[in-house]
Amino acid sequence: MVRIMFIGDVFGRPGRLALSHYVPILVNKENVDFVIANGENAAGGFGITEKTAKEIFASGVQVITTGNHIWDKKEAVELLTRNDRLLRPINYPPSVPGFGSGVYGFGNGGKIGVINLSGRVFMGYVDCPFRAISPVVEEIKKQTNLILVDVHAEATSEKLGLGHYLDGRVSAVLGTHTHVQTADERVLPKSTAYITDVGMTGPEDSIIGVKKEQIIEKFFNQIPVRYEVARGPGQFSAVIVDVDGVSGLALSIRRLALRYPE
Ligand SMILES: [Fe+2]
Ligand SMILES: [Fe+2]
Repeated sequence: MVRIMFIGDVFGRPGRLALSHYVPILVNKENVDFVIANGENAAGGFGITEKTAKEIFASGVQVITTGNHIWDKKEAVELLTRNDRLLRPINYPPSVPGFGSGVYGFGNGGKIGVINLSGRVFMGYVDCPFRAISPVVEEIKKQTNLILVDVHAEATSEKLGLGHYLDGRVSAVLGTHTHVQTADERVLPKSTAYITDVGMTGPEDSIIGVKKEQIIEKFFNQIPVRYEVARGPGQFSAVIVDVDGVSGLALSIRRLALRYPE
């Protein structure tokens, strides 16, 4: 059995602090074999920098996935080209820099494939995620059956569609991007673990990480507002997925929603 922990969108300093606190504790307590975090909002809520990526890796995260916000900080583009453990969604046009998937070693000769995929309903005009994913899954299967997919998308139906489309072919399909954890975690009929959204690891008293007043003002006036990371206690949102080490099929999925400081 292989145990994988996946952490939802790390947002600003409150998110990084909650992550640095909980990852070492949980890895130890729960005997986690591999840790993945979505870091698209790690730097001030918008994008990721070399410094914030380092901080996330230093806490025990092995691979960072991202999403639409990966392009917010210019230095991330260069970072994407030289660090194959920092992923961006695979279904951007072929000329876009960076990696959308990778196969990584862990433990005693284990291998896990990670794929970062973007939805396109209420998102940018990326390539069709349904058409993009299959060749990547087939390619990774030559090396390992353990495959985890971060589906970074807005629409619940699109995420569920991808979950069922990939059911039985990958270990887990885990949703990110909405920053609100959903309570629908389950193992689908053909043994793929699924959750519509893992939720945010960031400031608890906020609107998806941002100061509440600023988001409400935007809704009232519809003119640009400068967004800032909300202050106060953090929340840590993650799932722990247990997978059969040979077949790669999921045995269970558990949801975590913790407060920091406790
Ligand atoms: Fe996000
Ligand atoms: Fe996003």
